[in-house]
Amino acid sequence: MKMQIQFTLNGEKVEAEVSVNMTLLDLIRDEFKLTGTKKGCDEGDCGACTVLMNGKPVSSCMILAIDASGKDIETIEGLKGDDGELHPIQQAFVEIGAIQCGFCTPGMILTAKSLLNNNLEPTETEVRQAISGNLCRCTGYEKIVEAILQASEYLREEGM
Ligand code: FES
Ligand code: FES
Repeated sequence: MKMQIQFTLNGEKVEAEVSVNMTLLDLIRDEFKLTGTKKGCDEGDCGACTVLMNGKPVSSCMILAIDASGKDIETIEGLKGDDGELHPIQQAFVEIGAIQCGFCTPGMILTAKSLLNNNLEPTETEVRQAISGNLCRCTGYEKIVEAILQASEYLREEGM
């Protein structure tokens, strides 16, 4: 059985016809070709598929596409500016060297964005707690935490 849904994807109103058992992750990757959202475990354990739903990080492999109806979904592709400039969090990840294979990076950055939207001056502990559901198989956590703290500084400087 299929259903027609409408939602906002990276600021644009979109619609799609989806099977009732399709996940949001498959919709994003297979229908909208936004492959920055990664499929890791596909069972809610790794955070590689993290997207923001109404501003909150969710594992898109655990959400049905039909449940995105009427929601605001943001993927990593939505972060860069119109001029192609990297978001300050992306910039910090690059500068600090918080990216190894990059598989966890989109999910980490979106989780960080949600944290920093709500708390522009997080402690290291708060950063570690925020990313506790995002696994890095390269175990590059130190640099990731450093990058998020650096990003918080950039965002404060920019008054964002
Ligand atoms: Fe969704 Fe691992 S792919 S949590
Ligand atoms: Fe490879 Fe995190 S950089 S999984």
